[in-house]
Amino acid sequence: MTLIDGDEISARVRDEVSREISDLDYTPRLVAVLMSDDPASETYVRMKHQAAEEVGVDSETIDIDPEETEEALLDVIDDLNQDEDVDGILVQLPLPDHVDEHAALDAVAPEKDVDGFHPENKGRLMDGRPRMVPATPRGVHRMLQEADVEVDGADVTIVGRSNIVGKPLAALLTNHDATVTVCHSHTDDLAAHTRRADVVVAAVGVAEMIDAEMVAEGATVIDVGINRVDADNDKGYELVGDVAFDEVKEVAGAITPVPGGVGPMTVACLMENTVEAARQRRKN
Ligand code: GUN
Repeated sequence: MTLIDGDEISARVRDEVSREISDLDYTPRLVAVLMSDDPASETYVRMKHQAAEEVGVDSETIDIDPEETEEALLDVIDDLNQDEDVDGILVQLPLPDHVDEHAALDAVAPEKDVDGFHPENKGRLMDGRPRMVPATPRGVHRMLQEADVEVDGADVTIVGRSNIVGKPLAALLTNHDATVTVCHSHTDDLAAHTRRADVVVAAVGVAEMIDAEMVAEGATVIDVGINRVDADNDKGYELVGDVAFDEVKEVAGAITPVPGGVGPMTVACLMENTVEAARQRRKN
C-alpha cells in the first residue's frame, strides 16, 4: 500500500508557486471574505492566509459580521472586483442562511474567481476549456498524477455530488478521459459502484463511511472528507475522513490520510489559481 502524502505533495506545489512568483515583477494579491463565526471556516481561511504568506502572495481577510445583510456582502465583493490591485477573491463557504450563496458566487468577477465557483468558470470546465479549476478537484487530480495513478480509461467512482467537489471533479476527470460515476445519497447499492472502481473518491462529509468491504483490492482511495468527531483529548474532537482509514488501507493499493491528505492540497492549489489569475489579468 502506498500512502499518498498530501503534506509532501502540497509542499512541492507551494514551492513551484513560490518560484513562479519570485520571477514576477509584482506581488499577486488574494482577498478572502469570511462571513461566518464557524471555527472550521475560520481555520480554513487562516490556513489559506498562512500558505499565501509562505509562497509570497499578499493576502488579506475581510471579516463581515454574519448578522450583516446580503447587500453588505455584495458591496464588499463589488469593491474587490473594481480594485485593480486585487488578483483573487474567495468567499468562504458556507454563508449564513439569510444570504443567497448563488448571488454571492455570481457576483465575483470571473477573472478573479480563484475558487472557480462562478458559473462562467464552471461552464468552461464542463466545456473542456477550463480557466479556474476549483482547488480541491485540482488537488485531487494532482495527487493522482503524483502517485502515478493512470486516470485515462480508469473507472472512477466519486461519492458526493457537491458543487465544490463532486461535480467539478467529475468534469475534470472526464476531461482527462476517466470513466466517472457520481454517487450520492439517493444512489441504489453504493457499494456496487465503489467496489468496481479503480479509483474511489470520498467527498460526502460522513465520518468513516467508506469501509473495507466497499473497496476493491488494489484500488486507489482519495479521501476528501474532514469531519470533526468527539474525542477524549484536549480539544475534545479529532479530525477523521469519509474513509475508515485503518481498515481500508489493508485493501487499497494507494490511499490518502486525513489529516495530511487532500486538505493541504486544496490550499496549495488555491495558490496556483491565484498566480494564474494574476498572470492572466496582468498579462504576464
Ligand atoms: N468551503 C469549503 N470548501 C471551500 C472552498 O474550497 N472554498 C471556499 N471558498 N469555501 C469552502
